[in-house]
Amino acid sequence: MKRFKLSTEVLFSEDAIDALLEFKDVNAVLITDKFMVDSGMADMILKKLRNCKSISVFDEVIPDPPMSLIERGIAFLQDKDCDIVVALGGGSSIDAAKAIVYMNDKVKDATEEAPKKIKLIALPTTSGTGSEVTQFAVVTDTETGKKIPLIDESLMPDMAILDPELVKSAPPFITADTGMDVITHAIEAYVAETSSDCSDCLAEKAAELAFEFLPRCYRNGYDIKARDKMHRASCLAGMSFSLVNLGLNHGIAHALGAIFHIPHGRANALVLPHVIDFNADMAREAAKHSNDSAKKYQKLARIIGLPAPTPKVGVSNLIAEINRLMRYMDRPTTITECGISLEEFEANREEIINRAMADACTVANPRKVTRDDISKILDCIAK
Ligand SMILES: NC(=O)c1ccc[n+]([C@@H]2O[C@H](COP(=O)([O-])OP(=O)(O)OC[C@H]3O[C@@H](n4cnc5c(N)ncnc54)[C@H](O)[C@@H]3O)[C@@H](O)[C@H]2O)c1
Ligand SMILES: [Fe+2]
Repeated sequence: MKRFKLSTEVLFSEDAIDALLEFKDVNAVLITDKFMVDSGMADMILKKLRNCKSISVFDEVIPDPPMSLIERGIAFLQDKDCDIVVALGGGSSIDAAKAIVYMNDKVKDATEEAPKKIKLIALPTTSGTGSEVTQFAVVTDTETGKKIPLIDESLMPDMAILDPELVKSAPPFITADTGMDVITHAIEAYVAETSSDCSDCLAEKAAELAFEFLPRCYRNGYDIKARDKMHRASCLAGMSFSLVNLGLNHGIAHALGAIFHIPHGRANALVLPHVIDFNADMAREAAKHSNDSAKKYQKLARIIGLPAPTPKVGVSNLIAEINRLMRYMDRPTTITECGISLEEFEANREEIINRAMADACTVANPRKVTRDDISKILDCIAK
């Protein structure tokens, strides 16, 4: 049996943030990071929340939010008798807000008869994680430094507001890294073991939009049409993978991100061409036994306008297009280009493999993975 459920109301396009004016007579808490406050973006949102009874700002979010931050956030919500949480920022701020609201509910469930349901409104400022519509939140264990994925339908925000105005300040390197996260989400969800017609149509449109509009966003962050399209791509890719999970690419990227503090989208992009190559299993394709993933990569290549007369040509053109895009956006393609020494990389090889094998995303990969397979992919990104 397959299931399709999307519970987040999505408002999109220019001026979508005006929807915040509708919130009246509630205690609102804005969860964000210092950059959003210093850059004036938080102020812009506070003005739209002016009809609320009270507004408080929790601006302590940092990339890859640790559990200690979540605990401080819960105390903050309780102190402010919060009714709605507005999450403003990239995946880190939205994930932090999701985890704070989710865990606050759990604490309250255990202590109150009828806990107040806090409404969560997500305002993404990167076109990347799709966290505004997913049932995932990634937090970091403060002691071990490991990323802990929380997975629960109740983590889905009640409302997502996709306003391109919020993304245009993202500098080219953040646009590029987060945009590659979108492309990885679409591609991984498309071939995931659990993919379905419902998730496929979301992934196809997300990939089509992202390959067309990411270069434009990178070239000119103020191209509002391209930003709008990329924001939609990010959301559609998020919907797709929220339904069917991801795969080995994210399994490895989570390990690289946690161990070396490589930004999430950059870590995904590093391994993407090699994971596609692994999943398509080209040695078998040469023997005329192309697998389902190779056929799907071929279809995706066609959708984004690449020649793909056979699975083999489709896969190799898709990989070439990703490499071309990475070069265009001046992205690192090896671990050494990310500023990590080979010695440090090798010292952590076994730990990366352990974490990738155990990651909750890896189980959805369409091709069964061994430790040796991961080690070979790591060889490809070493230098
Ligand atoms: N919940 C999910 O479904 C999901 C999926 C993928 C990744 N994640 C998680 O999301 C996090 C990564 O999120 P991210 O890639 O969006 O980056 P991020 O939220 O960590 O932000 C990266 C940097 O970009 C800055 N920034 C954000 N928006 C900006 C803007 N408009 N202008 C200028 N600077 C801006 C932030 O201040 C920060 O310094 C990781 O923790 C990852 O594990 C979650
Ligand atoms: Fe991701």
